[in-house]
Amino acid sequence: EADLRQRAAEVLDANWERDHTVPSRALYPHQWSWDAAFIAVGLAHHAPERAWWDLRSLFAAQWADGRVPHIVFDPNVSERDYFPGPAFWDAPPVPGRLAGLTTGIVQPPVHAVAAWEVYRRATDRPAARAELTWLYPRLVRQQEYLFGARDVGGAGLASIVHPWESGLDNSPAWDRALAAVPADLSLLRRHRRQDTNVADSSHRPTDTDYARYIALAAAYRDSGYADAGLAQRHLFLVECPAFNAILGAAEHALADIAEVVGADPAPHRDRAEHITKALLDRLLDPATGMFHARDVRTGELTPARCVSGLLPLILPGLPEDRVAALLAEAGSGRFGYAGPPVPSYDRTAPDFDRLRYWRGPVWINVNWLLWRGLRTHGHAAAAGTLRTAMLDVIRRGGCYEYFDPIDGAGIGAAAFSWTAALALDLLA
Ligand code: DGY
Repeated sequence: EADLRQRAAEVLDANWERDHTVPSRALYPHQWSWDAAFIAVGLAHHAPERAWWDLRSLFAAQWADGRVPHIVFDPNVSERDYFPGPAFWDAPPVPGRLAGLTTGIVQPPVHAVAAWEVYRRATDRPAARAELTWLYPRLVRQQEYLFGARDVGGAGLASIVHPWESGLDNSPAWDRALAAVPADLSLLRRHRRQDTNVADSSHRPTDTDYARYIALAAAYRDSGYADAGLAQRHLFLVECPAFNAILGAAEHALADIAEVVGADPAPHRDRAEHITKALLDRLLDPATGMFHARDVRTGELTPARCVSGLLPLILPGLPEDRVAALLAEAGSGRFGYAGPPVPSYDRTAPDFDRLRYWRGPVWINVNWLLWRGLRTHGHAAAAGTLRTAMLDVIRRGGCYEYFDPIDGAGIGAAAFSWTAALALDLLA
């Protein structure tokens, strides 16, 4: 245990850059939004001042409309080292931030949960309270943006406008909705991928995926990143169960934070309840017992069973029978974790791919969320088994970005920050 703790801390130290942590030196050389949240959870055990710093750097780049960009670019990193970089996104500069550039899309809002975790662990409470006081109104605006401007479906859930916004980039959950987006491979001649120079291409999204990612990002950019009229104009609008479960969990965390900073927790509790109810009404398929992504343009639920459909387990307000159904699914041959933890996709699906990013591999961040969900609903034994499974793959494979769900081998980036960070949290 001491050895893993040491290795994980070294990964976080090596990936620290001035005022933020990079997810990976090789593959992701800037600051990523949901990565920053998971990283802060781990830094709370190792270097709490850096945990706050990471969150502050990210929220210093928040847009006036409340959106928190999915990448904050480091001006010292060459445009050649990551695609799509600042020139592609062409986003308005962040006021007050020297050469501060960002993307214009978002990622799951795990930050309130992270901020609460960092606060809970703090030994210097007054300093931590000051950090929370700075963050609270910003976290609130982030939420308001998501259930306001992004409520394209009109039911109180946020829609994502790009697979990258889910953080689960090439999840089979998007396959049907993405089929509506033309895949123009000539875009890849003009815009060179960088990820496949540093990672094995069979472990990454395909070129067809990338052509669609570029087309969608360009369309949103060319509309000035406007959200009005998305329903009429945009080709990809999806309500993701994981994104929205996290949106709900953020309201629970904000209720706790509100009490510390002297704000009213009640509206946050109401909002969390509202989101939980909307998830049950709109994204639950009683036939599978799981939650499924909804294509807002067609009203269809994707048939794919993905780990995102288990994540509503993190909501404390989920009814008992729903919890039981999710547990049954998580323990089934599709997601069961006798060996490696929960895979990102149904192991029995014909297109399950043990190597390709979110189409099969095990990811620690979603497993960490499930582990919290299990504890929230009083399933301590199942949580303990999942924790052991996570620590086992990390101990054996290293702090990899993701893991082979069959043999537990590490894949993707080797020194990946959120794996290291969440290992520290699991060991605490
Ligand atoms: C990437 O670069 O692959 C990220 O997942 C997109 O944000």
